[in-house]
Amino acid sequence: MNATSLWHAAAAALAADSVESKLAGMDQLAGLLATAVPSAPTFGPSPELLGTPRGTPPRPLLVRPQEVPQRKPSSLLGRATLLHAIAHIEFSAIDLALDHALRFPTLPPAYYVDWLGVAIEETRHFRLLRDHLRSLGHDYGDFPAHDSLWRMAERTAGDVLARMALVPRLMEARGLDATPPIRERLASVGDTRATAILGVILRDEIGHVGLGDKWYRQFCKDRALEPEATYRSLIREFGAPWPSLPMTCDARLKAGFGKQELKALAADGIVNRESPKHRVDQAERPQA
Ligand SMILES: [Fe+2]
Repeated sequence: MNATSLWHAAAAALAADSVESKLAGMDQLAGLLATAVPSAPTFGPSPELLGTPRGTPPRPLLVRPQEVPQRKPSSLLGRATLLHAIAHIEFSAIDLALDHALRFPTLPPAYYVDWLGVAIEETRHFRLLRDHLRSLGHDYGDFPAHDSLWRMAERTAGDVLARMALVPRLMEARGLDATPPIRERLASVGDTRATAILGVILRDEIGHVGLGDKWYRQFCKDRALEPEATYRSLIREFGAPWPSLPMTCDARLKAGFGKQELKALAADGIVNRESPKHRVDQAERPQA
């Protein structure tokens, strides 16, 4: 495997500014990553690729979270709107995982392999949702979306420990809580395809949050920090949203959270829910 080609493919996928070019870039990256497992101890992005800017397609229109339309999935339009919001999260998650890999230098090779692999799985999720959305007569880009997930990535761009804590282990873990009730709503209106897709996504996202947990705990260990108290401090320091209740504890336990930690998070979340800062962040949470 040519590591230089692989990193250029990853950077090109992150910078791609159309849906089709991002998907084509991800296919190229997947092909390169599949040919061999990088083993060189220096495997990582070359200095000129670090911090490659993210490209975004002209559509969907990005708006404030409050301006994203909310409709009930009982109507076809409502179902398409809901699936579009989830497709946008998956599309954003491709860029998040690529940015985890391209933002931070001199980390263990396994860190980079893990996040490049996640970007490839997120591409699969996006395609599943987009294909289903198209079968309903719509496409990705047809509805407005918001960019809260990416804003948290920007805010944590200076520190890989904060990034692992607040993007995969916080924001994406919120998806573990949000997905089961959405899946039930889609099942209740008879959308068996969407229900099956969300089953795949939930299973894979437990793995993605688990990687966030693994690397977060490793970086805490490297800095002699206690991970669970540090995590709650980071949520406060960055004004990030607390987990919404109820949490999906079985999925979170599989992803690496401890039982006592979940209890502490729930308690802190209830106390902090009343703060004005928290209300702002609640409004910014992913809608799916
Ligand atoms: Fe995903």
